[in-house]
Amino acid sequence: MAAALARDAVVAIIGAGAMGSGIAQVAAQAGHRVLLQDARTGAAANAQRAVARTLAALAAKGKLTSEAAEAAAARIVPVANTEDVRGAALVIEAIVEDLAAKRALFAELERVVADSTLLATNTSSLSVTALAAGLRVPRRVAGMHFFNPAPVLPLVEVVSGLATAREVADTIHATAAAWGKTPVHASSTPGFIVNRCARPFYAEALRLLAERAGDCATLDAVMREAGGFRMGPFELMDLIGHDVNFAVTRSVWDAYFNDPRFLPSVLQRELVDAGYLGRKSGRGFYDYAPGAASPQPASEVARTTPRRITIHGDLGPARALVQRWRAAGVSVDEHDAVRAFPDGVIATGGAWLALTDGRTATSRAVMSGAHRLVVFDLALDYASCKRLALARADSCDDDALGAACGALQAAGIAVSRLDDVAGLAVMRTVAMLANEAADAVTQGVATPADLDLAMQRGVNYPRGPLAWGDTLGAARVRDVLHHLAAHYGEDRYRTAPLVTRRAAMGGKLVLNP
Ligand code: NAI
Repeated sequence: MAAALARDAVVAIIGAGAMGSGIAQVAAQAGHRVLLQDARTGAAANAQRAVARTLAALAAKGKLTSEAAEAAAARIVPVANTEDVRGAALVIEAIVEDLAAKRALFAELERVVADSTLLATNTSSLSVTALAAGLRVPRRVAGMHFFNPAPVLPLVEVVSGLATAREVADTIHATAAAWGKTPVHASSTPGFIVNRCARPFYAEALRLLAERAGDCATLDAVMREAGGFRMGPFELMDLIGHDVNFAVTRSVWDAYFNDPRFLPSVLQRELVDAGYLGRKSGRGFYDYAPGAASPQPASEVARTTPRRITIHGDLGPARALVQRWRAAGVSVDEHDAVRAFPDGVIATGGAWLALTDGRTATSRAVMSGAHRLVVFDLALDYASCKRLALARADSCDDDALGAACGALQAAGIAVSRLDDVAGLAVMRTVAMLANEAADAVTQGVATPADLDLAMQRGVNYPRGPLAWGDTLGAARVRDVLHHLAAHYGEDRYRTAPLVTRRAAMGGKLVLNP
């Protein structure tokens, strides 16, 4: 284990924009003297004053003492030129996202600083390998990828390029931890961990919307209230900004030579073209104009509560529904599995209600002969979820649909009906998130533990995608992906080798979670 930089080591930050000033605040609060430089005259001094104001406001709220706030602000020293960072032990660049500009800066820094000085980049999309190429000492270059706003968000991806020395990455990792952050190691691959492994969260939602599975408010509510995500994909994209989100998707797609797994969405490009960039422009998927109505999710009207529900087989992840029904006074009989539904099924009021396996309800109804079939979506926790999505087969009549809705409502669950899309919303998204994570682990982008940690701390997922895959079992993840691949006939849904391998063992997605 490498040690963190000593507190008395000087840290230099080049680029005093949104990220550079945030990182300067973090390093100064950790006790370092921070040299802050920007090509724009006055920008570094302005940033120092802005950080001082932020720290004073935090002190006024009692988050730190006013002495600590003043001392931290005083440790940030604006400097005019690159030569002025000569004595720094670590230089972090947060300048414009441009390979040529960053390379030129590193080449210039090499002429100024000692060979022992570590050079870090805050790039979110450029290759750390490419940034270090051609330098005299490329082994000292690593990514130190903070998330915006840097003082608030805990995750730091420590990115190693081909030439990065392990002890350099370890020192930066230990330093980020000493600064109160949650660092993870990543290898320099497009999107690193988070910007790659989060793509399916947006991409599957955009596809569902493009297929008119449901409206934004309904899909967002399903992802929040069944999937347990802090924000739904559409409200989150509106918050990030469609220009930024679309650019990240494009850059990952370009960098992977147009792998269909990362295919951008025409719908999102339309928003960018229209200037509907999200919250910041007053309009995105939602309208943020003052007084604009906020659309409500579609929920099915209340249906009759069933007196009796029969379960055939084991409902797997949805098992907890049984307790909810019993607690609500509904009598539940449990029987052996029936041949058409080896993975368990609920029978109620003439309807069959089954957890989605990635097929549409319609094709499953045809294959099973259960024409009155309704499929329901995955939930993070069936014991507590407030909403579930469902879809009926084209052959299912209104009475059977009503019986299925009534059963879920009897358990205290609001029901959102989607069109009969393959894999519904949460199941399909989680299967794709787990698949992408499994692929990234296979390719050595990160360890399983670091990957799950990154997704929980970087984008607030309620559970790491690999741990989620574990709770579903690798075979279920594989089956959902196989069915999606068959349904769409697209390579986009191909199964990661790790999923296939673990599914063959009938086990979890990762052996050492
Ligand atoms: P920004 O535009 O707010 O700030 C960039 C600053 O760098 C500007 O003040 C500019 O004057 C200065 N600059 C440009 N070229 C320079 C040079 N050659 N020497 C010195 N200063 C120079 O940009 P932001 O958002 O702070 O991003 C900076 C870096 O951080 C980029 O690489 C970006 O990809 C990355 N990043 C951005 C995140 C975000 O959400 N904004 C999140 C994580 C990483």
